[in-house]
Amino acid sequence: MKNIRIYDILKQKEGIEIGSVINVKGWVRTKRGNSAVNFIALNDGSIVHSLQIVADTEKFDAELLKKVTTGACLSVTGKLVASMGKGQSVEIQAEQIEVLGTADPEKYPLQKKGHSMEFLREIAHLRFRTNYFGCVMRLRHAMAFAIHQYFNDHGFVYMHTPLITGADAEGAGEMFQVTTLDLENLPRNESGKVDYTKDFFGKITSLTVSGQLNGELGALALGKIYTFGPTFRAENSNTPRHLAEFWMIEPEMAFYDITDNMDLAEDFIRYVVKYALEHNPDDLQFLNDMFDKGLIERLQHVDKEPFQRLTYSEGIDILLQSKHKFEVPVKWGIDLQSEHERFLVEQHFGKPVILTDYPKEIKAFYMKQNDDGRTVRGMDILFPKIGEIIGGSERESDLDKLLGIMRERNMNEDILDWYLDTRRFGTAPHSGFGLGFERLMLFVTGMANIRDVIPFPRTPQNAEF
Ligand code: 4AD
Ligand code: MG
Repeated sequence: MKNIRIYDILKQKEGIEIGSVINVKGWVRTKRGNSAVNFIALNDGSIVHSLQIVADTEKFDAELLKKVTTGACLSVTGKLVASMGKGQSVEIQAEQIEVLGTADPEKYPLQKKGHSMEFLREIAHLRFRTNYFGCVMRLRHAMAFAIHQYFNDHGFVYMHTPLITGADAEGAGEMFQVTTLDLENLPRNESGKVDYTKDFFGKITSLTVSGQLNGELGALALGKIYTFGPTFRAENSNTPRHLAEFWMIEPEMAFYDITDNMDLAEDFIRYVVKYALEHNPDDLQFLNDMFDKGLIERLQHVDKEPFQRLTYSEGIDILLQSKHKFEVPVKWGIDLQSEHERFLVEQHFGKPVILTDYPKEIKAFYMKQNDDGRTVRGMDILFPKIGEIIGGSERESDLDKLLGIMRERNMNEDILDWYLDTRRFGTAPHSGFGLGFERLMLFVTGMANIRDVIPFPRTPQNAEF
Protein backbone atom coordinates (compact mmCIF):
# COMPACT_ATOMS: atom_id res chain seq x y z
CA MET A 1 0.00 0.00 0.00
CA LYS A 2 1.36 3.43 -0.96
CA ASN A 3 2.10 5.53 2.08
CA ILE A 4 0.43 8.89 2.52
CA ARG A 5 2.26 11.96 3.74
CA ILE A 6 1.25 13.08 7.21
CA TYR A 7 0.94 16.63 5.84
CA ASP A 8 -1.82 15.48 3.48
CA ILE A 9 -3.57 13.60 6.26
CA LEU A 10 -3.55 16.41 8.79
CA LYS A 11 -4.59 18.94 6.16
CA GLN A 12 -7.37 16.50 5.19
CA LYS A 13 -6.52 16.65 1.52
CA GLU A 14 -9.04 15.40 -0.99
CA GLY A 15 -9.25 11.65 -1.37
CA ILE A 16 -8.19 10.95 2.20
CA GLU A 17 -11.48 9.96 3.82
CA ILE A 18 -12.20 9.35 7.47
CA GLY A 19 -12.83 5.64 7.83
CA SER A 20 -10.44 4.60 5.05
CA VAL A 21 -7.48 2.32 5.66
CA ILE A 22 -4.17 3.98 4.87
CA ASN A 23 -0.44 3.49 5.32
CA VAL A 24 1.94 5.99 6.89
CA LYS A 25 5.69 5.81 7.38
CA GLY A 26 7.79 7.91 9.68
CA TRP A 27 9.87 8.17 12.84
CA VAL A 28 8.59 7.81 16.38
CA ARG A 29 8.75 11.02 18.37
CA THR A 30 7.18 9.68 21.58
CA LYS A 31 5.28 6.67 22.85
CA ARG A 32 3.05 6.72 25.91
CA GLY A 33 0.10 4.70 27.16
CA ASN A 34 -0.79 1.85 29.46
CA SER A 35 -1.19 -1.91 29.37
CA ALA A 36 -4.25 -1.68 27.13
CA VAL A 37 -3.28 0.96 24.60
CA ASN A 38 -0.19 2.73 23.23
CA PHE A 39 -0.21 6.21 21.75
CA ILE A 40 2.60 6.74 19.27
CA ALA A 41 3.43 10.18 17.86
CA LEU A 42 4.74 9.59 14.34
CA ASN A 43 6.46 12.28 12.29
CA ASP A 44 7.51 11.98 8.65
CA GLY A 45 9.06 15.41 8.17
CA SER A 46 6.33 16.67 5.85
CA ILE A 47 4.83 18.88 8.58
CA VAL A 48 5.82 19.97 12.06
CA HIS A 49 2.90 18.10 13.65
CA SER A 50 3.01 14.40 14.38
CA LEU A 51 0.22 11.96 13.65
CA GLN A 52 -1.17 10.00 16.56
CA ILE A 53 -1.14 6.23 16.11
CA VAL A 54 -3.34 4.29 18.52
CA ALA A 55 -2.24 0.70 19.07
CA ASP A 56 -4.35 -1.67 21.18
CA THR A 57 -1.76 -3.80 22.91
CA GLU A 58 -3.81 -6.98 22.55
CA LYS A 59 -3.61 -6.71 18.75
CA PHE A 60 0.19 -6.66 18.70
CA ASP A 61 3.05 -8.81 19.84
CA ALA A 62 4.58 -7.32 23.02
CA GLU A 63 8.07 -7.80 21.55
CA LEU A 64 7.13 -5.70 18.53
CA LEU A 65 5.72 -2.86 20.65
CA LYS A 66 8.90 -2.89 22.74
CA LYS A 67 10.83 -1.98 19.61
CA VAL A 68 8.61 1.06 19.08
CA THR A 69 10.87 3.56 20.81
CA THR A 70 11.73 7.21 20.18
CA GLY A 71 13.65 7.45 16.92
CA ALA A 72 12.53 4.10 15.50
CA CYS A 73 11.16 4.08 11.96
CA LEU A 74 7.71 2.56 11.43
CA SER A 75 5.36 1.60 8.67
CA VAL A 76 1.82 1.68 10.04
CA THR A 77 -1.35 0.60 8.31
CA GLY A 78 -4.69 1.34 9.90
CA LYS A 79 -7.99 3.13 9.83
CA LEU A 80 -8.08 6.92 9.82
CA VAL A 81 -10.59 8.02 12.47
CA ALA A 82 -11.70 11.26 14.05
CA SER A 83 -9.79 11.74 17.28
CA MET A 84 -11.45 12.04 20.66
CA GLY A 85 -8.23 13.23 22.25
CA LYS A 86 -7.05 16.79 22.61
CA GLY A 87 -4.54 18.30 20.22
CA GLN A 88 -5.39 16.46 17.02
CA SER A 89 -8.37 16.13 14.72
CA VAL A 90 -7.60 12.68 13.36
CA GLU A 91 -5.60 9.62 14.35
CA ILE A 92 -4.86 6.14 13.07
CA GLN A 93 -6.22 2.97 14.64
CA ALA A 94 -3.28 0.71 13.91
CA GLU A 95 -3.97 -2.65 12.29
CA GLN A 96 -0.42 -3.49 11.20
CA ILE A 97 2.85 -2.12 12.50
CA GLU A 98 6.19 -2.91 10.92
CA VAL A 99 9.38 -1.66 12.53
CA LEU A 100 11.57 -0.65 9.58
CA GLY A 101 14.45 0.46 11.78
CA THR A 102 14.98 0.30 15.52
CA ALA A 103 16.70 3.02 17.59
CA ASP A 104 18.34 1.73 20.75
CA PRO A 105 16.96 3.91 23.59
CA GLU A 106 20.30 3.62 25.37
CA LYS A 107 22.09 5.17 22.41
CA TYR A 108 19.68 7.38 20.43
CA PRO A 109 20.58 10.90 21.58
CA LEU A 110 17.25 12.64 20.94
CA GLN A 111 15.26 11.16 23.81
CA LYS A 112 13.84 14.13 25.62
CA LYS A 113 12.26 17.28 24.31
CA GLY A 114 13.96 20.62 24.68
CA HIS A 115 17.61 19.91 23.92
CA SER A 116 19.74 23.04 23.77
CA MET A 117 20.72 24.41 20.36
CA GLU A 118 24.37 23.91 21.33
CA PHE A 119 23.81 20.22 22.00
CA LEU A 120 21.90 19.80 18.76
CA ARG A 121 24.81 21.35 16.86
CA GLU A 122 27.02 18.55 18.14
CA ILE A 123 24.63 16.05 16.62
CA ALA A 124 23.85 18.10 13.53
CA HIS A 125 23.56 14.88 11.54
CA LEU A 126 20.48 13.93 13.59
CA ARG A 127 18.94 17.29 14.38
CA PHE A 128 16.65 17.23 11.34
CA ARG A 129 14.59 14.84 13.45
CA THR A 130 13.63 17.66 15.81
CA ASN A 131 10.67 19.94 15.25
CA TYR A 132 12.92 23.01 15.20
CA PHE A 133 15.08 21.78 12.39
CA GLY A 134 12.20 20.30 10.49
CA CYS A 135 10.73 23.82 10.43
CA VAL A 136 14.04 25.43 9.50
CA MET A 137 14.68 22.96 6.69
CA ARG A 138 11.21 23.29 5.19
CA LEU A 139 11.48 27.07 5.38
CA ARG A 140 14.95 26.97 3.82
CA HIS A 141 13.55 25.02 0.93
CA ALA A 142 10.58 27.37 0.57
CA MET A 143 12.85 30.41 0.50
CA ALA A 144 15.17 28.90 -2.11
CA PHE A 145 12.15 28.08 -4.23
CA ALA A 146 10.62 31.55 -3.79
CA ILE A 147 13.91 33.17 -4.80
CA HIS A 148 14.03 31.30 -8.09
CA GLN A 149 10.33 32.02 -8.61
CA TYR A 150 10.82 35.73 -8.06
CA PHE A 151 13.69 36.12 -10.47
CA ASN A 152 12.12 33.91 -13.07
CA ASP A 153 8.92 35.97 -12.93
CA HIS A 154 10.95 39.16 -13.34
CA GLY A 155 12.89 38.12 -16.43
CA PHE A 156 16.22 37.23 -14.85
CA VAL A 157 18.52 34.52 -16.18
CA TYR A 158 19.92 32.12 -13.57
CA MET A 159 23.66 32.10 -14.18
CA HIS A 160 26.08 29.57 -12.74
CA THR A 161 29.27 31.33 -11.83
CA PRO A 162 32.42 29.36 -11.02
CA LEU A 163 33.31 28.26 -7.52
CA ILE A 164 37.00 27.94 -8.28
CA THR A 165 38.54 31.23 -9.32
CA GLY A 166 41.75 33.19 -9.66
CA ALA A 167 40.10 36.48 -8.67
CA ASP A 168 39.35 37.93 -5.24
CA ALA A 169 36.08 39.69 -6.03
CA GLU A 170 35.85 41.56 -2.75
CA GLY A 171 39.57 42.28 -2.53
CA ALA A 172 39.55 41.36 1.14
CA GLY A 173 42.04 38.51 0.88
CA GLU A 174 39.80 36.09 2.71
CA MET A 175 40.02 33.21 0.29
CA PHE A 176 40.50 29.47 0.74
CA GLN A 177 43.25 28.35 -1.60
CA VAL A 178 42.58 25.38 -3.88
CA THR A 179 45.63 23.33 -4.72
CA THR A 180 46.76 19.83 -5.58
CA LEU A 181 50.39 20.60 -4.79
CA ASP A 182 52.05 18.33 -2.23
CA LEU A 183 52.22 20.64 0.77
CA GLU A 184 55.00 18.57 2.30
CA ASN A 185 57.10 18.93 -0.80
CA LEU A 186 56.36 22.13 -2.70
CA PRO A 187 57.89 22.79 -6.13
CA ARG A 188 59.99 25.96 -6.07
CA ASN A 189 61.07 28.30 -8.84
CA GLU A 190 64.50 29.93 -9.24
CA SER A 191 63.73 32.67 -6.73
CA GLY A 192 62.66 30.11 -4.14
CA LYS A 193 58.94 30.91 -4.34
CA VAL A 194 56.30 28.20 -4.74
CA ASP A 195 56.03 27.34 -8.45
CA TYR A 196 52.31 27.52 -9.14
CA THR A 197 52.77 26.71 -12.80
CA LYS A 198 53.02 23.15 -11.46
CA ASP A 199 49.69 23.43 -9.65
CA PHE A 200 46.51 21.91 -11.09
CA PHE A 201 45.37 25.07 -12.89
CA GLY A 202 48.88 26.37 -13.52
CA LYS A 203 48.30 29.34 -11.23
CA ILE A 204 47.01 30.28 -7.78
CA THR A 205 43.32 29.53 -7.42
CA SER A 206 40.83 29.76 -4.59
CA LEU A 207 37.21 29.14 -3.69
CA THR A 208 35.13 32.13 -4.68
CA VAL A 209 33.94 34.77 -2.20
CA SER A 210 31.31 36.05 -4.64
CA GLY A 211 30.01 35.37 -8.13
CA GLN A 212 29.59 39.05 -8.85
CA LEU A 213 32.46 39.72 -11.25
CA ASN A 214 31.36 36.90 -13.53
CA GLY A 215 27.75 37.99 -12.98
CA GLU A 216 28.56 41.46 -14.32
CA LEU A 217 29.70 39.89 -17.58
CA GLY A 218 26.37 38.11 -17.78
CA ALA A 219 24.35 41.24 -17.03
CA LEU A 220 26.14 43.23 -19.74
CA ALA A 221 24.98 40.69 -22.29
CA LEU A 222 21.74 39.21 -20.99
CA GLY A 223 20.34 42.26 -19.20
CA LYS A 224 19.38 40.77 -15.85
CA ILE A 225 21.00 37.75 -14.27
CA TYR A 226 21.24 36.24 -10.82
CA THR A 227 23.48 33.71 -9.17
CA PHE A 228 22.52 31.54 -6.24
CA GLY A 229 25.28 29.35 -4.98
CA PRO A 230 27.78 28.64 -2.24
CA THR A 231 30.48 31.17 -1.44
CA PHE A 232 33.45 30.78 0.87
CA ARG A 233 35.19 33.17 3.19
CA ALA A 234 38.23 32.41 5.28
CA GLU A 235 37.47 35.23 7.71
CA ASN A 236 38.26 34.27 11.24
CA SER A 237 34.94 35.52 12.60
CA ASN A 238 33.40 33.36 15.25
CA THR A 239 30.09 35.19 15.50
CA PRO A 240 26.42 34.17 15.34
CA ARG A 241 26.23 35.79 11.89
CA HIS A 242 29.29 34.46 10.03
CA LEU A 243 29.90 31.21 8.22
CA ALA A 244 32.99 30.13 6.29
CA GLU A 245 30.68 28.52 3.70
CA PHE A 246 27.41 30.30 3.01
CA TRP A 247 24.98 30.64 0.13
CA MET A 248 24.54 33.93 -1.62
CA ILE A 249 21.99 35.30 -4.07
CA GLU A 250 23.51 37.90 -6.38
CA PRO A 251 21.35 39.65 -8.96
CA GLU A 252 23.12 41.93 -11.43
CA MET A 253 21.23 44.26 -13.75
CA ALA A 254 22.26 46.34 -16.74
CA PHE A 255 20.84 49.89 -16.87
CA TYR A 256 19.93 49.93 -13.16
CA ASP A 257 21.14 52.80 -11.04
CA ILE A 258 21.42 52.59 -7.27
CA THR A 259 17.79 53.63 -6.73
CA ASP A 260 16.55 50.90 -9.08
CA ASN A 261 18.83 48.53 -7.20
CA MET A 262 17.32 49.48 -3.83
CA ASP A 263 13.77 49.24 -5.20
CA LEU A 264 14.48 45.75 -6.49
CA ALA A 265 16.07 44.62 -3.21
CA GLU A 266 13.09 45.82 -1.20
CA ASP A 267 10.53 44.28 -3.50
CA PHE A 268 12.45 41.00 -3.56
CA ILE A 269 12.74 40.72 0.22
CA ARG A 270 9.06 41.53 0.63
CA TYR A 271 8.16 38.84 -1.86
CA VAL A 272 10.12 36.05 -0.19
CA VAL A 273 8.97 37.01 3.32
CA LYS A 274 5.34 37.04 2.15
CA TYR A 275 5.94 33.70 0.48
CA ALA A 276 7.00 32.22 3.82
CA LEU A 277 3.94 33.64 5.57
CA GLU A 278 1.64 32.22 2.93
CA HIS A 279 3.25 28.84 2.34
CA ASN A 280 4.72 27.82 5.71
CA PRO A 281 2.29 29.06 8.35
CA ASP A 282 2.63 25.94 10.54
CA ASP A 283 6.42 26.14 10.63
CA LEU A 284 6.35 29.85 11.44
CA GLN A 285 3.70 29.37 14.12
CA PHE A 286 5.78 26.67 15.79
CA LEU A 287 8.94 28.80 15.77
CA ASN A 288 6.93 31.80 16.93
CA ASP A 289 5.41 29.92 19.86
CA MET A 290 8.48 27.98 20.93
CA PHE A 291 11.36 30.26 20.17
CA ASP A 292 10.64 33.85 19.22
CA LYS A 293 7.28 35.34 20.20
CA GLY A 294 7.72 38.35 17.92
CA LEU A 295 8.59 36.40 14.78
CA ILE A 296 5.36 36.47 12.80
CA GLU A 297 4.68 40.07 13.69
CA ARG A 298 8.17 41.05 12.54
CA LEU A 299 7.68 39.24 9.24
CA GLN A 300 4.29 40.86 8.69
CA HIS A 301 5.79 44.24 9.45
CA VAL A 302 8.20 43.98 6.50
CA ASP A 303 5.30 44.48 4.14
CA LYS A 304 3.81 47.42 6.01
CA GLU A 305 6.19 50.29 5.38
CA PRO A 306 9.10 51.15 3.11
CA PHE A 307 12.62 50.61 4.40
CA GLN A 308 14.31 53.75 5.71
CA ARG A 309 16.83 55.07 3.20
CA LEU A 310 19.66 57.38 4.24
CA THR A 311 23.30 57.99 3.50
CA TYR A 312 26.15 56.64 5.59
CA SER A 313 27.03 60.22 6.55
CA GLU A 314 23.49 60.84 7.81
CA GLY A 315 23.69 57.56 9.73
CA ILE A 316 26.95 58.62 11.35
CA ASP A 317 25.36 61.91 12.42
CA ILE A 318 22.49 60.06 14.09
CA LEU A 319 24.92 57.80 15.93
CA LEU A 320 27.03 60.77 17.01
CA GLN A 321 23.98 62.57 18.36
CA SER A 322 22.65 59.56 20.27
CA LYS A 323 23.37 59.19 23.96
CA HIS A 324 24.09 55.48 23.52
CA LYS A 325 27.56 54.30 24.60
CA PHE A 326 29.11 52.27 21.78
CA GLU A 327 32.03 49.93 22.29
CA VAL A 328 33.64 51.11 19.06
CA PRO A 329 33.59 54.93 19.04
CA VAL A 330 31.70 56.51 16.14
CA LYS A 331 33.42 58.72 13.63
CA TRP A 332 33.08 59.30 9.90
CA GLY A 333 35.05 56.69 8.00
CA ILE A 334 34.62 53.72 10.32
CA ASP A 335 33.24 50.44 9.10
CA LEU A 336 29.97 50.24 11.04
CA GLN A 337 29.90 47.50 13.67
CA SER A 338 26.81 45.48 14.37
CA GLU A 339 26.14 47.56 17.52
CA HIS A 340 25.91 50.67 15.30
CA GLU A 341 23.79 48.98 12.68
CA ARG A 342 21.43 47.57 15.27
CA PHE A 343 21.09 50.92 16.99
CA LEU A 344 19.92 52.53 13.76
CA VAL A 345 17.56 49.71 12.87
CA GLU A 346 16.16 48.67 16.23
CA GLN A 347 16.32 51.78 18.38
CA HIS A 348 16.30 54.76 16.07
CA PHE A 349 14.09 53.83 13.11
CA GLY A 350 12.40 50.63 14.23
CA LYS A 351 12.43 49.20 10.70
CA PRO A 352 14.87 47.94 8.07
CA VAL A 353 17.35 50.56 6.93
CA ILE A 354 19.22 51.05 3.66
CA LEU A 355 22.48 52.95 4.04
CA THR A 356 24.10 54.36 0.91
CA ASP A 357 27.16 56.33 -0.16
CA TYR A 358 29.85 54.82 2.04
CA PRO A 359 33.43 56.07 2.37
CA LYS A 360 35.30 54.55 -0.54
CA GLU A 361 38.14 53.22 1.65
CA ILE A 362 35.89 50.70 3.39
CA LYS A 363 34.20 49.38 0.27
CA ALA A 364 35.17 47.14 -2.64
CA PHE A 365 37.00 48.47 -5.69
CA TYR A 366 34.13 47.98 -8.15
CA MET A 367 31.67 50.46 -6.62
CA LYS A 368 30.75 53.59 -8.57
CA GLN A 369 32.69 56.59 -7.32
CA ASN A 370 30.68 59.66 -6.36
CA ASP A 371 31.68 63.15 -7.51
CA ASP A 372 32.66 64.15 -3.97
CA GLY A 373 35.80 62.03 -4.39
CA ARG A 374 35.40 60.31 -1.04
CA THR A 375 32.25 58.19 -1.18
CA VAL A 376 31.00 55.40 -3.40
CA ARG A 377 27.51 54.39 -4.48
CA GLY A 378 27.26 51.34 -2.25
CA MET A 379 24.16 50.24 -0.38
CA ASP A 380 23.82 47.97 2.62
CA ILE A 381 20.46 46.78 3.88
CA LEU A 382 20.33 46.38 7.64
CA PHE A 383 17.74 44.26 9.40
CA PRO A 384 16.52 44.02 12.98
CA LYS A 385 18.43 41.48 15.09
CA ILE A 386 20.78 40.68 12.20
CA GLY A 387 22.47 43.80 10.93
CA GLU A 388 23.69 43.60 7.33
CA ILE A 389 21.59 41.26 5.25
CA ILE A 390 22.37 42.72 1.80
CA GLY A 391 25.46 44.41 0.42
CA GLY A 392 25.39 45.92 -3.06
CA SER A 393 26.14 48.92 -5.21
CA GLU A 394 25.93 50.63 -8.51
CA ARG A 395 29.11 49.58 -10.30
CA GLU A 396 31.87 51.80 -11.61
CA SER A 397 31.26 51.57 -15.34
CA ASP A 398 34.04 53.95 -16.41
CA LEU A 399 37.24 52.09 -17.32
CA ASP A 400 39.64 54.86 -16.32
CA LYS A 401 38.04 55.44 -12.94
CA LEU A 402 38.02 51.71 -12.27
CA LEU A 403 41.66 51.35 -13.25
CA GLY A 404 42.45 54.37 -11.09
CA ILE A 405 41.13 52.76 -7.93
CA MET A 406 42.68 49.39 -8.77
CA ARG A 407 46.07 51.05 -9.09
CA GLU A 408 45.56 52.94 -5.83
CA ARG A 409 45.02 49.58 -4.20
CA ASN A 410 47.89 47.84 -5.96
CA MET A 411 45.53 45.30 -7.46
CA ASN A 412 46.75 42.90 -10.11
CA GLU A 413 45.19 44.11 -13.38
CA ASP A 414 46.25 41.02 -15.31
CA ILE A 415 44.17 38.71 -13.14
CA LEU A 416 41.11 40.89 -13.78
CA ASP A 417 41.76 41.65 -17.43
CA TRP A 418 38.71 39.68 -18.54
CA TYR A 419 36.56 41.66 -16.11
CA LEU A 420 37.89 44.95 -17.43
CA ASP A 421 36.69 43.97 -20.90
CA THR A 422 33.15 44.76 -19.69
CA ARG A 423 34.27 48.38 -19.42
CA ARG A 424 36.28 48.30 -22.66
CA PHE A 425 33.50 47.02 -24.89
CA GLY A 426 30.01 48.44 -24.62
CA THR A 427 30.14 49.40 -20.99
CA ALA A 428 26.86 50.49 -19.40
CA PRO A 429 25.54 51.65 -16.07
CA HIS A 430 24.69 48.61 -13.98
CA SER A 431 24.04 47.56 -10.43
CA GLY A 432 23.63 44.52 -8.26
CA PHE A 433 23.62 43.19 -4.75
CA GLY A 434 24.32 40.12 -2.68
CA LEU A 435 21.88 38.67 -0.17
CA GLY A 436 23.35 36.23 2.34
CA PHE A 437 20.90 33.34 2.24
CA GLU A 438 21.59 32.29 5.83
CA ARG A 439 21.17 35.88 7.06
CA LEU A 440 17.77 35.87 5.36
CA MET A 441 17.05 32.54 7.05
CA LEU A 442 17.93 34.05 10.43
CA PHE A 443 15.32 36.70 9.81
CA VAL A 444 12.66 34.34 8.52
CA THR A 445 13.08 31.70 11.24
CA GLY A 446 13.89 33.98 14.18
CA MET A 447 16.84 31.73 15.01
CA ALA A 448 19.61 33.47 16.90
CA ASN A 449 22.65 31.67 15.50
CA ILE A 450 23.55 31.25 11.84
CA ARG A 451 24.83 27.73 12.63
CA ASP A 452 21.20 26.76 13.16
CA VAL A 453 19.84 27.73 9.76
CA ILE A 454 22.20 25.71 7.54
CA PRO A 455 22.29 21.91 7.62
CA PHE A 456 26.02 21.51 8.23
CA PRO A 457 27.74 24.74 9.30
CA ARG A 458 31.39 25.41 8.49
CA THR A 459 33.06 27.84 10.89
CA PRO A 460 36.63 28.31 12.11
CA GLN A 461 37.87 25.05 13.62
CA ASN A 462 34.70 23.25 12.63
CA ALA A 463 33.89 21.23 9.51
CA GLU A 464 32.08 18.27 11.04
CA PHE A 465 29.78 15.95 9.16
O1 4AD B 1 28.64 42.54 1.47
P1 4AD B 1 29.23 41.37 0.75
O2 4AD B 1 30.63 41.01 1.05
O3 4AD B 1 29.03 41.69 -0.80
C1 4AD B 1 29.44 40.92 -1.84
O4 4AD B 1 29.97 39.84 -1.78
C2 4AD B 1 29.08 41.51 -3.16
N1 4AD B 1 29.91 40.88 -4.21
C3 4AD B 1 27.62 41.30 -3.41
C4 4AD B 1 27.15 41.89 -4.71
O5 4AD B 1 27.05 43.11 -4.81
N2 4AD B 1 26.87 41.08 -5.69
O6 4AD B 1 28.31 40.09 1.01
C5 4AD B 1 26.96 40.11 0.65
C6 4AD B 1 26.12 39.49 1.75
C7 4AD B 1 26.20 40.23 3.08
O7 4AD B 1 25.35 41.34 3.11
C8 4AD B 1 25.76 39.14 4.04
O8 4AD B 1 24.36 39.01 4.04
C9 4AD B 1 26.35 37.89 3.41
O9 4AD B 1 26.58 38.19 2.05
N3 4AD B 1 27.61 37.50 4.04
C10 4AD B 1 27.75 36.46 4.88
N4 4AD B 1 26.85 35.58 5.34
C11 4AD B 1 27.29 34.62 6.19
N5 4AD B 1 28.57 34.48 6.57
C12 4AD B 1 29.52 35.34 6.11
N6 4AD B 1 30.79 35.17 6.47
C13 4AD B 1 29.12 36.38 5.23
N7 4AD B 1 29.76 37.37 4.59
C14 4AD B 1 28.84 38.03 3.87
MG1 MG C 1 29.09 43.81 2.97
